[in-house]
Amino acid sequence: MKNTAYINCRIKKFNKIIYIPGDKSLSIRWVLLASQAIGKSVAYNLLNSEDVTSALKAIKKLGINYKINKKFCEINGKGISGFNFKDKTVVDAGNSGTLARLIFGLMINSKKGIILKGDKSLSKRDFTRVIKPMRMFGMNIETKNNTLPIKIKGTNYPLPINFYEKKGSAQVKTCILLAAMKTPGITKIKCVNSRDHTEKLFKYLRLPIKIQKKKNFDLINYYGKKNYNGFNYNIPGDISSSAFFIVLALLNKNSKILIKNVNVNKSRTGIIDILKKMNGKIVLKNKRIYKGEYIADIFVKSSKNLKSINCPVKMNSRSIDEFLLIFLVCAVAKGISKFRKINELRKKETDRLKFANNFLNKIGIKTKTTNDSISIYGNPNLKLNKSYEIKNFDKDHRSCMMSFIAALVLGGKWIIRDINSINTSFPNFISLLKNLGAKIN
Ligand code: S3P
Repeated sequence: MKNTAYINCRIKKFNKIIYIPGDKSLSIRWVLLASQAIGKSVAYNLLNSEDVTSALKAIKKLGINYKINKKFCEINGKGISGFNFKDKTVVDAGNSGTLARLIFGLMINSKKGIILKGDKSLSKRDFTRVIKPMRMFGMNIETKNNTLPIKIKGTNYPLPINFYEKKGSAQVKTCILLAAMKTPGITKIKCVNSRDHTEKLFKYLRLPIKIQKKKNFDLINYYGKKNYNGFNYNIPGDISSSAFFIVLALLNKNSKILIKNVNVNKSRTGIIDILKKMNGKIVLKNKRIYKGEYIADIFVKSSKNLKSINCPVKMNSRSIDEFLLIFLVCAVAKGISKFRKINELRKKETDRLKFANNFLNKIGIKTKTTNDSISIYGNPNLKLNKSYEIKNFDKDHRSCMMSFIAALVLGGKWIIRDINSINTSFPNFISLLKNLGAKIN
């Protein structure tokens, strides 16, 4: 695939039904949990992207076999003590922060060590957030600066911990839960709300988890350690990938889209609530529950009279991967939109707050940015006719895909570089855009 895209005209009106590939968070969790089950697990609609391939390669290196074809993926797990590998095995998490952080939890009872590494972008990210709780469990970790590569070795006697997860990070929460699964005794986590797919999967697997919901946090107890059998899963579409098409339809004149079979777990749908508050026309249809997850078809219509938002902080973790798109909508909404306490955006595949600020200024939108906030001065009459080149976003798939949506709805002549980054989460993104009529060279 060539690594640069050229867009020279806006997308015309469309009215289509589309399907979005499988949810990335659920796909990675299924791979890792299936690797710990006893016997065969099968997934349908597993996301076929680089991050998920990295997860499959990782479990293979740790001694777990899998088969994959166009229709399904099969993993043959050997239980919670089933990893089998040589000391100093190198495990490459590629670009995936989720995979890298979750692997820590799985390694808690390993008698041999691994060297965990990642690509250039992942190697710049900080792992203190998982190193701290894992050391409390008794894990042996050797690191310079808390960045990859990191040497990780488990312990024969992991100890359950009490931990307060303050960032609202689902990766940290899940890492601890995976370690708790292999640790005798009761692990207790107080955690600020974040996506809860792991808890839902644990409940579906009848694992000994107890959750008390408080207003702004959860209290989770896990009673380790228990084996479980292999399980099948039909992965629903990814709301974070759907978000690009939600915003495309919302901002494009006379357009409609129905996105079928999407995971609309409440901990992920901040973008829908925010865009609706801004006058976005979005309706969830055909709601149903699958293995504890809420699934729906998302209907979106082009929306006029978009207004600014003063975004409540409690929306942050529910929209964490969608902020770039939300900012794009704010750029064409009437009024000044404000977002606070969004410092976590600086810790993603790239510093997304910096990227967003530069991007918005490049297209003529005034912003005020601090270390953890942004104000966006919307311009409902924004029309672009200059040339724009997007590069240097450190292989960040979401920054790259947001640039496509901006180019297709705002006009102007665009050169978007480093488009291979899209393969980490959404390999058929460009072909889906072309099916809607986008002209991309
Ligand atoms: C994820 C959690 C989020 C999110 C990431 C996927 C997960 O990260 O940004 O894309 O699957 O648990 P944080 O836990 O750092 O918020």
